[in-house]
Amino acid sequence: MGIQPTSVGVNDKAARIRSMFAEIAPRYDFLNHALSLNIDRRWRRFLVNKVADRLRRPGAIALDLCCGTADLSLKLSALAPTIGLDYCHPMLELGAKKIRRERRSAELVEADALNVPFADGMFDVVTIAFGLRNLEEPEAGLREIYRLLRPEGRAAVLEFSRPKIPIFRDLYHLYFTRLLPRIGKAISGSSYAYQYLPDSVLAFPDQRELVSLMQAVGFSDVRYYNLFGGVASLHIGDRQSDKL
Ligand SMILES: C[S@@+](CC[C@H](N)C(=O)[O-])C[C@H]1O[C@@H](n2cnc3c(N)ncnc32)[C@H](O)[C@@H]1O
Repeated sequence: MGIQPTSVGVNDKAARIRSMFAEIAPRYDFLNHALSLNIDRRWRRFLVNKVADRLRRPGAIALDLCCGTADLSLKLSALAPTIGLDYCHPMLELGAKKIRRERRSAELVEADALNVPFADGMFDVVTIAFGLRNLEEPEAGLREIYRLLRPEGRAAVLEFSRPKIPIFRDLYHLYFTRLLPRIGKAISGSSYAYQYLPDSVLAFPDQRELVSLMQAVGFSDVRYYNLFGGVASLHIGDRQSDKL
């Protein structure tokens, strides 16, 4: 167990995002739960329920990409051996502390989610929570997830999304683009990170566009669930069986 460092590819965007997460790491969990009124915990539980049958298969292994401080990795590890992967060392250190505290046997690996140091088809479940949007090329991230899944394996992508109910959508937009950056800056000390959050969500594909992207990569039976009116969405897609 413990963090296993491997080489991390760095380009401009990746390096910028990585130092941003390193800067906010000490306040990340607190802000996550406070700004979402703790709803993020429920979202991760929902995700785990949607992959639980795959995790209960004999010998199943899960990979949690962009695991950050390992909240989701910990939940997955209650059902199957889990590897959490992230390229930001300070986030992983916090995750490793939690894993030790909760006496779980999740492993953490320091690596780039676009260049994962594991063989094709190793995992029954690959998850990515609030990470895909941060990748240099989200489509390349989906291709990497597909590569890592074994046939009949399942991908789960949890990400901020776009509320669709008119009045709620407008109120939420105000909160997300005006209020949240100020609260985030006051608590984390980073003006960039909590402006980057709404900017990156608005630049990311919406629910239906993400379905199309996953289908284009090859996932089958792609579907999504709106969470809290579409503030976030969970997309599920399967890698097809080899047997036709
Ligand atoms: C918003 S946090 C999400 C953390 C966690 N999954 C959660 O649910 O709280 C995004 C994480 O993605 C990681 N990340 C972003 N780009 C990455 C990349 N190319 N490779 C590995 N990790 C990356 C960041 O370091 C950060 O820990």
